[in-house]
Amino acid sequence: MEAVQNNEAAPRKRVFSAIKPTGNPTLGNYVGAMKYWGGMADEYDCLYAVADLHAITVNIEPKELRENSKRLFALLIAIGIDPDRNVLFMQSHVSAHAELGWLLNNYTMFGEARRMTQFKEKSKKAPDNINVGLFDYPVLMAADILLYQADIVPVGDDQMQHVELCRTIAQRFNNKYSPTFKMPEGRVPKSGARIYSLADPTAKMGKSDGDGSGSVFILDKPEDIMRKFKRAVTDCDSKIKASKDKPGITNLLNIYASLCGITVAAAEKEFENSDYAAFKTRVGEAAAETLRPIREKYEALRRDDVALAELMKAGAERASRIAHRTLEKVYKKIGFVRV
Ligand code: TRP
Repeated sequence: MEAVQNNEAAPRKRVFSAIKPTGNPTLGNYVGAMKYWGGMADEYDCLYAVADLHAITVNIEPKELRENSKRLFALLIAIGIDPDRNVLFMQSHVSAHAELGWLLNNYTMFGEARRMTQFKEKSKKAPDNINVGLFDYPVLMAADILLYQADIVPVGDDQMQHVELCRTIAQRFNNKYSPTFKMPEGRVPKSGARIYSLADPTAKMGKSDGDGSGSVFILDKPEDIMRKFKRAVTDCDSKIKASKDKPGITNLLNIYASLCGITVAAAEKEFENSDYAAFKTRVGEAAAETLRPIREKYEALRRDDVALAELMKAGAERASRIAHRTLEKVYKKIGFVRV
């Protein structure tokens, strides 16, 4: 049955988000963010980009960038972003991103960019590669968002500071010229707890975790998923209860609750008479069951590179049309001669 639209005149709000093709997306990325993206098209006009331009702010080999980019694009479709109902594209295929990024540099203060927590952390991590791109990263991110006049920007909590900077830049530009950019609002998903490493439940489940034993990757095979869960670090008593001093069990409960769409309390109840081994097996099975159809869809998409390229092209064309309208306005307002 068709959904009844009770206010067809109201324009739909626009959502924009992007994800970098660095590392290998994990169950944590899925549960914490990606899982919600496909469904947002019911309510909003959604644009999603693979942020490949952002990926080169850290050291990355050409082969890796190329493979990661294709993998992520296909994976986004596999997790439920239907390219007919959403605009899905590669950031570098829409030249307006790099152009607006340059323009916005001139409305961003050095001191504002210098204060960004992510810049400080990444500089500490790679002191031999503190490049200007890394510093400029949030300005390009502001360009991504502002080009599409996005209302809502779903992000992880570590990106909220960048969305705030984006608003500062937009406000400054709007004040100097005239209203040009919509003020975007960053949104951190309420449900979908932060997922920690299975090997060290005090550290975030990372996309580029050392030997991979602590991270479950979305594209892992069921047997690897099971092995990782069975070896998950837990604590020494045997109660399956979430608490501060039981980070391992709490993490597994969070994962299970998110995968099954239930509360942590309901998960605790379900396992009140289980031992750790049975619990870990069940969480592993839930993860493997959730991820299996995603991996199968992904593999089908990767069997046809030509079709994948066509989807990229179509997405970039649709994104370009919107982006260039904003970019043209910006050039004119600043005073560039347009012919
Ligand atoms: N910086 C974001 C991250 O690391 C990815 C990103 C790039 C992004 N451009 C964006 C997110 C624009 C939201 C909007 O997760």
